[in-house]
Amino acid sequence: MADNTNYESVGSGLNYSLEKSKRRSNRSKWIVLGSIITLLALIAIGVGVGVSVSNKNKNKNNNDLSTSSSSSSGSNSTDSSSSDAPKQTDPNDPSTFVKDPNLKQSFYGMAYTPEGSLLPDCGNSLDAVIHDIQVMSQLTKRVRLYGADCNQSALVLEAIKQTKVDMEVFLGNYPTPDDETAYTRQRDTIKAAIQTYGTDHIAGITVGNEYILNYLNAHGATDPNSAVGNTGGEQLVADINDTRSMLNDLQLSKTIPIGNSDAGSYFNNLVLEAVDYGLSNVHPWFANTTIQNAASWTATFFDETNVQPAAQLPNKPKMYIAETGWPSESSDAGNANNGASDASEANLQIFLDNFVCQANTNGTGYFFFEFTDEPWKDKLYGGVEGHWGLFHSNRTLKRITIPDCPAP
Ligand SMILES: *[C@@H]1O[C@H](CO)[C@@H](O)[C@H](O)[C@H]1NC(C)=O
Ligand SMILES: *[C@@H]1O[C@H](CO)[C@@H](O)[C@H](O)[C@H]1NC(C)=O
Ligand SMILES: *[C@@H]1O[C@H](CO)[C@@H](O)[C@H](O)[C@H]1NC(C)=O
Ligand SMILES: *[C@@H]1O[C@H](CO)[C@@H](O)[C@H](O)[C@H]1NC(C)=O
Ligand SMILES: *[C@@H]1O[C@H](CO)[C@@H](O)[C@H](O)[C@H]1NC(C)=O
Ligand SMILES: *[C@@H]1O[C@H](CO)[C@@H](O)[C@H](O)[C@H]1NC(C)=O
Repeated sequence: MADNTNYESVGSGLNYSLEKSKRRSNRSKWIVLGSIITLLALIAIGVGVGVSVSNKNKNKNNNDLSTSSSSSSGSNSTDSSSSDAPKQTDPNDPSTFVKDPNLKQSFYGMAYTPEGSLLPDCGNSLDAVIHDIQVMSQLTKRVRLYGADCNQSALVLEAIKQTKVDMEVFLGNYPTPDDETAYTRQRDTIKAAIQTYGTDHIAGITVGNEYILNYLNAHGATDPNSAVGNTGGEQLVADINDTRSMLNDLQLSKTIPIGNSDAGSYFNNLVLEAVDYGLSNVHPWFANTTIQNAASWTATFFDETNVQPAAQLPNKPKMYIAETGWPSESSDAGNANNGASDASEANLQIFLDNFVCQANTNGTGYFFFEFTDEPWKDKLYGGVEGHWGLFHSNRTLKRITIPDCPAP
């Protein structure tokens, strides 16, 4: 990470997964302020595929910065997704869904995990994913997944097929540094999905989510390009290379780009040199910006921390914003303000108004964080963690107006 004075912290996540009996092994939190202050709270629950989530700010008066992050859906599906499902003129044909005039295809992309996509419970369903794709296809042409467990790659591709929508998906493989089987298990389901569905609706395969951030946290380091960072980077590059050989075997190496996703300040150059694209989490909320400055802060941070450095690398990987957004509420008063502005629907609206159309005009590729609220995150972490959706968890749109400017 650069030691530049404008540096603001961002991104992050906690690697965890759910087991039937949840086990909290340790917690850490981090902050980066100016140069380096780090508080860590790492929550690891069980084994299996990690999903990173930000931790909550317990107390707005202490130094505790939570960072954002990635989604994935919790244990069992509660089937909230069907409560506000689109109508179909032919109940047996998902492509006949009735469009909602409130939705506009203004987003470059959307961060998405089908509800119920964590091992061991899974619990996702094709019907629920079809409903989600029917709605999301009215907002964007692209979704990104974080992992591949619980058949989520196939579910999304099947839903795109049945709804006949013009969408593509960045598939995800979410390896964990200490469990190589997580990588191979997901690689194999991704391979099977490619063999079943072909490549028409696959925009890329993202190998790794906040891998370097988690690796550094686990080894008490902070600099992604330190010796420790490079050791983690080489491990991940082995997985990236393996995904490339898998595509080579399928004679698709030129067809499907391979990428990596991490917190904005945690890209390792060995990793970036091994991929075609990078996905960066850039969260103004966790950088304590005001809502008025949130969109321009996001653009500046992304340009300085990700776009310009990537352009210096020999392979010039294309950089996208993996996650950005603004929470609409907090489950407790202590986290309702980031020190500068509130978590509120009104402020989510301001961020939408200031960010989306400008980013489209500027040619920035981004995945809005996120499609719906995630109640399981609220249960685990409280604060703002479960409240980043454009929609409530029951798929009712929040009191917001979707910007109207066609995304590229
Ligand atoms: C953000 O604000 C919180 C609460 O006001 C504070 O504890 C934290 O240190 C701040 N973080 C940064 C990166 O400025
Ligand atoms: C999840 O659903 C399955 C099947 O309905 C059930 O057997 C299991 O106990 C559920 N797990 C949890 C954590 O609710
Ligand atoms: C999911 O995976 C199984 C194999 O485990 C496969 O038979 C099934 O067709 C897949 N796709 C969907 C959309 O469920
Ligand atoms: C990954 O592949 C590149 C290009 O073939 C090679 O130079 C590099 O040594 C490989 N790295 C690992 C860790 O496998
Ligand atoms: C778009 O580009 C302008 C000009 O460089 C910049 O001021 C603005 O912050 C950018 N906004 C977004 C959301 O990318
Ligand atoms: C969905 O949830 C929101 C927030 O709890 C609520 O206001 C809304 O009425 C619900 N919509 C439906 C259709 O139940």
